[in-house]
Amino acid sequence: MAGMDRYHGTRAALLALMSAGAVGCSNADGQSSSSSPGAPPTYYRDVKPVLDAKCAGCHTAGGIGPFALTTVEDVVLRKDAIVAAVQSRRMPPWPPSPECAEIAHDPSLTEPQIDTLARWANAGAPLGDPADFVALPGDPGTLSRTDLDLPMPEPYTPTKGPDDYRCFLIDWPYDTTKFVTGLGITPGNDSIVHHVVVFYAKPNAVSTYEAYDAAEPGPGYTCFGGPKGDDKAIEGPSGYGILGGWAPGSFGRDAPAGTGIEVPPGTKIILQLHYNTAHGTPEPDRTTVAVRIDDTVEKPAFSMPWLNPAWRNPGGMVIPAGDSDVVHTFEQDAATAVSIFTKGALPADQPFTLHTVGLHQHLRGKSISTSHTPSGGTEACLVDIPKWDFHWQSPYTLLEPRRIMPGDKLRIECHWDNSAANQPLVNGVKMPPEDLQWGEGTNDEMCLGWFYVTP
Ligand code: HEC
Repeated sequence: MAGMDRYHGTRAALLALMSAGAVGCSNADGQSSSSSPGAPPTYYRDVKPVLDAKCAGCHTAGGIGPFALTTVEDVVLRKDAIVAAVQSRRMPPWPPSPECAEIAHDPSLTEPQIDTLARWANAGAPLGDPADFVALPGDPGTLSRTDLDLPMPEPYTPTKGPDDYRCFLIDWPYDTTKFVTGLGITPGNDSIVHHVVVFYAKPNAVSTYEAYDAAEPGPGYTCFGGPKGDDKAIEGPSGYGILGGWAPGSFGRDAPAGTGIEVPPGTKIILQLHYNTAHGTPEPDRTTVAVRIDDTVEKPAFSMPWLNPAWRNPGGMVIPAGDSDVVHTFEQDAATAVSIFTKGALPADQPFTLHTVGLHQHLRGKSISTSHTPSGGTEACLVDIPKWDFHWQSPYTLLEPRRIMPGDKLRIECHWDNSAANQPLVNGVKMPPEDLQWGEGTNDEMCLGWFYVTP
């Protein structure tokens, strides 16, 4: 699931740092300072390095942030709003709770960085000497190589507002089995592309998706949440898998070293686009996916859905209308589930490694979390999204891959608010509360985990 984390420091920042050849003397992390004790932080020495690394990826001219934070004027003008946004941890946007497992490429500011910004604003925003600026080290984890570019077959202009969810089929060009070992997604039109997920249909499932595509005029077909297929019967005639995704501010990434997802010949890529035209007029988009390919990998990876199979049955996961806190949970012996899903490729009596966690609910979702309970041990939270926001979905790679032993359990817990106050706008109209169930529509819900696992 490379390419799925949200944000890392700019490449420019990394290059600047490398050419400056210095890390230790910067006090932009607020932990060391060459200035006299008590001297206030300055813009160039202390503030700009943090904002360049953590904010400018989105807050730049033409970026998705509502204003730029790239010049001294921008920043001084908005200093109080900046401090408020970082102290409340609204910015940079990062849904996972810091109380759980550490996540790779976490863009959050450290406490000393937040403190530095606050002290700088309080001190009247002194500028200091431009020569003191040293960029922070960037996040080195980008897509290291592109072997294949997969653009949408043709441009698409959203026809529904404010949200248009659309899937596009893309041919997979290889006639031998390959492994996807990295992914990078470049939205064709930043002003309307809200998020992107790359699914794939295995050869026996392709005709199902081709029929969806053929049934609707224009490029692609309407799909919400998933590609409209069956997330349980991944090997079945409408089964699908997931390769990666994109949310605003994210960069391409390599898969965890030595791992990759097997893609057989005859596969089709299903690119799901969520367009949001609330702040702009519908314009054409042609999003493209850069893929890193290898013929073999040390450890084949499996992207495994995690859900209670019974939720999918009628009445299996009811979310009653008007209820503001509905909870569904599911826990299971993990190695057994993985063994069934991988048809024994990862045997039930062997440990496996969990690298990346994706979590998915729909529009009334309130919170979602996963945990790991070692056999005979205590439950440990893996990823917790305390305030679910459908618009900020992204998979999370654990900083330390988690070894899961036979007998250990994995758990998912979802909460929903289905009160009248928390109903989504669909095509500009607020929906009335209704009893909700599992499904692929905007008026359905899910409680779905995706685990990227290897032997
Ligand atoms: C991943 C993209 C992204 C990054 C990174 C990001 N922002 Fe934002 N920011 C946004 C978007 C989108 C909005 C407008 C929507 C919203 O408020 O959620 C916004 C709004 C804001 C606002 C006004 C609303 C508010 O919540 O106060 C401030 C101030 C702000 N950002 C500051 C920052 C700072 C400071 C950083 C870095 C520490 C940062 N942002 C990093 C995307 C980003």
